[in-house]
Amino acid sequence: MIGQTERLLELNRLKAQEKKPEGRGRIISFSSGKGGTGKTFISLNTAYALSRMGNKVLLIDLDSNLSNINIMLNMRPQKTILDFLLQKSALRDLITHYEPSLHFIFGESGKADYPLQSDHLLDYLAEEIKELCRDYDYIILDIGAGAGDEIIHILGQVHANIIVLNAEPTAIMDAYVIVKLMHMSGSATPNFAVINKCFSEEEATTAYTNLSKAAEHFLKEEVFSLGFIGHDQMVTKAIMAQELYIRKNPRSKTSLQIIKLAQGIVQKFRQGQVKASGI
Ligand SMILES: Nc1ncnc2c1ncn2[C@@H]1O[C@H](COP(=O)(O)OP(=O)(O)OP(=O)(O)O)[C@@H](O)[C@H]1O
Ligand SMILES: [Mg+2]
Repeated sequence: MIGQTERLLELNRLKAQEKKPEGRGRIISFSSGKGGTGKTFISLNTAYALSRMGNKVLLIDLDSNLSNINIMLNMRPQKTILDFLLQKSALRDLITHYEPSLHFIFGESGKADYPLQSDHLLDYLAEEIKELCRDYDYIILDIGAGAGDEIIHILGQVHANIIVLNAEPTAIMDAYVIVKLMHMSGSATPNFAVINKCFSEEEATTAYTNLSKAAEHFLKEEVFSLGFIGHDQMVTKAIMAQELYIRKNPRSKTSLQIIKLAQGIVQKFRQGQVKASGI
């Protein structure tokens, strides 16, 4: 009798293993250099789209001491990444299950004891994120504005960096600075661009062309296109209402553009443009 029970348990365990998709852990950052280009809005909604496409997704708010994801979702986290940085918690223990396939690690806001992030601490963070790769298909990092050493250090360790920029020359210049500083640091991370808040496709094409030509000409670096997202007043309305845009407006033009972006990410990994090896 005991033997039969054991066999049944073993069968169930094997079945569960079969069902569990192998997490291939692709780590993708959303950065910009310039503030306010739409990194948090796009990373949050793309994470949601990827999860709805059947992927297991973890979104980590890495905007140091200026976290926004919990505010966009109207959530009050019990623990934040600060607990990890102060070595009070393992990264894994900070995960909030928002939906079965969409998890978050929230950031911190305005804490006086927020530690300076040394290379050592960032490497430790990268190691812990790498550990989580086994459990997820995509780990999305929402990076803060700026191009300081700690940001460039993180961007050098992800599988793909998506630069979110607008069509203004200031945003294009700051996006170029990110590519340049990554290049100078010896980073091998492939860079992609998404043009956000644009008023026409031509405007987006011109912005992408300016960035990619400058990177090619001065740095011999390629910046791949991941399309564009139009300017949409409903985005601000959703943020004001602290609602997840794409869930609230599933059929809008912007939601379709976000879904296209998520499909583009999946395709780039499939085509082998982005390696899915360890961090
Ligand atoms: N496609 C869009 N259309 C219209 N407004 C947008 C769009 N995307 C983002 N915004 C607006 O831009 C502002 C900044 O968005 P968000 O906070 O996502 O930017 P960010 O790059 O994460 O900023 P930060 O650099 O401060 O982290 C918000 O007010 C948001 O409503
Ligand atoms: Mg942000």
